[in-house]
Amino acid sequence: MCGIVGYTGTNQAAPILLDGLGKLEYRGYDSAGIAIRNGEELAEVVKSTGKLRSLIEKTDSGRTLAGTCGIGHTRWATHGEPSQTNAHPHVSGNCSGSGSGQVESEVVGVHNGIIENYLELKEKLLRHGYQFYSDTDTEVVVKLIDYYYKKYKIGPVDAINRTLVRVRGTYALALMFRDYPGEIYAARKDAPMIIGITNGESYLASDVPALLNYTRNVYYIDNMQIARLLPGEVHFFDLNGDEVSLESTEITWDAKSAEKNGFEHFMIKEIYEQPDAVRDTLTSLIVDGRISLKDTGLDEDVLKSVSSFRIVACGSAWHVGMAAQYILEDMTGVPVRVELASEYRYRKILPQERELLIVISQSGETADSLAALRKAKDLGVRTLAVVNVVGSTIAREADHVLYTHAGPEIAVATTKAYSSQLIAMYCLAIQTAYDLGRIDDEKYAYYLSELNTIPEKIVRILEEKERIQWFAAKYSNARDIFYIGRGLDYAISLEGSLKAKEISYVHSEAYAAGELKHGTISLIEENVLVIGVLTQDDLFEKTVSNMVECKARGAYLMALTTYGNYNAEDSASFTVYVPKTDPHFMASLAVVPLQLLGYYIGVARGLDVDKPRNLAKSVTVE
Ligand code: AGP
Repeated sequence: MCGIVGYTGTNQAAPILLDGLGKLEYRGYDSAGIAIRNGEELAEVVKSTGKLRSLIEKTDSGRTLAGTCGIGHTRWATHGEPSQTNAHPHVSGNCSGSGSGQVESEVVGVHNGIIENYLELKEKLLRHGYQFYSDTDTEVVVKLIDYYYKKYKIGPVDAINRTLVRVRGTYALALMFRDYPGEIYAARKDAPMIIGITNGESYLASDVPALLNYTRNVYYIDNMQIARLLPGEVHFFDLNGDEVSLESTEITWDAKSAEKNGFEHFMIKEIYEQPDAVRDTLTSLIVDGRISLKDTGLDEDVLKSVSSFRIVACGSAWHVGMAAQYILEDMTGVPVRVELASEYRYRKILPQERELLIVISQSGETADSLAALRKAKDLGVRTLAVVNVVGSTIAREADHVLYTHAGPEIAVATTKAYSSQLIAMYCLAIQTAYDLGRIDDEKYAYYLSELNTIPEKIVRILEEKERIQWFAAKYSNARDIFYIGRGLDYAISLEGSLKAKEISYVHSEAYAAGELKHGTISLIEENVLVIGVLTQDDLFEKTVSNMVECKARGAYLMALTTYGNYNAEDSASFTVYVPKTDPHFMASLAVVPLQLLGYYIGVARGLDVDKPRNLAKSVTVE
């Protein structure tokens, strides 16, 4: 996610803003910028790509920018590649966009979030004579505020209010208006923002760590509220422009726990961010009730022409492919082959006519996946990248790119990116099936309505984490854990097993339940933990019988199934239930208890669950 900071008071603003951005670096970013106002003078904007260090050097640690009021930003690209032009702050004037220097603009702003309808708003503004220098949704919002500000001439709060009712999506905005020196205006909806006040000084940030050096007295501005910051004071307004009062809160966290938003580890924080990651990915792909793959370039003709899908990835991304194959084949009737990138890149490949090769990668930098992509392109195969990092190597080299919106994922073990990749693959499958005429409007709408229930259902699963935590502690000394399932449940087992072993170092295997009897069942003995994944009702009885075979050999059985399948308890000693959704999408729900299980076993074993031994977040070497 992007990071936002703001300051107005009696001290020089630039060093304070740079310090605050430094405290938000952990959120991940690809560029940064600040805008400073010195009294009545025009705002001066300085931006840079890459690490914050280059912005600090450019401004001599802020000393080249005089002024006691300013805003700053670290950008995690969602719309538009990482570049100086796309870096924030953005301005309402028609400047070159490189952004450095004094800007002749009424409004200067920074933004965290995703504006879903920015293209329609951009067209409106173009019709009113606005020009655009960047690819960002943020520039559109800043110019829309400027449009209302000039049209109605009732001041910043009114202009912002009119804008908020027009935009759809998520945002945390910090703005400066030329006619209001020394003041900062802010607004948010479903993106974090806090405001801190001390005597004579006012601060704004996306997250607590940026403020802790200055104040622990903060206000959590509510959704669709506007804040007006002056030195040492803040006023809040509702959508009608009426002033409202907010209670302040005392922050008690230390800096380290503040980066994790109070969670003990980034991994558990990111597990809890999954509802938002799923919601943001859905928001980016579903516009006015229709899946929009326009940004990928995969139009109806391309999707209808695909003769076969080949999914290539590593690790958990490969597990997404294993899950997606069942969904793609069932919905579209198009054959799907899933391959480990490290295998594909060395095989003698005979590409299918009109094959679409899909590379799934959170980082977009995994060496094996990148090599597989390059091999496919050399073979003349059309390629689609499903990635979480805008402008990553795989994103840049694929023919088509479908971005997930999980935000930066810090923990080595992927959770929210995995869940976002599933959503992306569901949308690809649904849209392809619709374009092929395999599903009608009613089924299409049903699938989308089911997808929209997933975030809340994940929340419900997370509310019952204590049972998983208790069970994990009980089995933290397990020697072997087997995850078994059939069909999509086998794909879910693969991810559950990897979460356990990579975090807790407990040996674990995922097995197609029907395959156990062909050898592996010889490993089952007294007290070995076997986890049966039972989300597919049509395969339920078959897998239960495989579980019972393990129980007969001494295994301890855990069942993972959906509410209502209470007969699982006839065989299993411990059963975890998740809400139902359409069977195609059950991986998005069933994976959550398995993520929690792996995490809590690792915690029970006193391990560094964010940085497991021998592992890297992105394996950029062979
Ligand atoms: C999963 O928890 C691991 N972090 C690892 O398997 C990862 O999924 C794999 O290395 C692929 O990474 P990518 O998605 O960035 O390509």
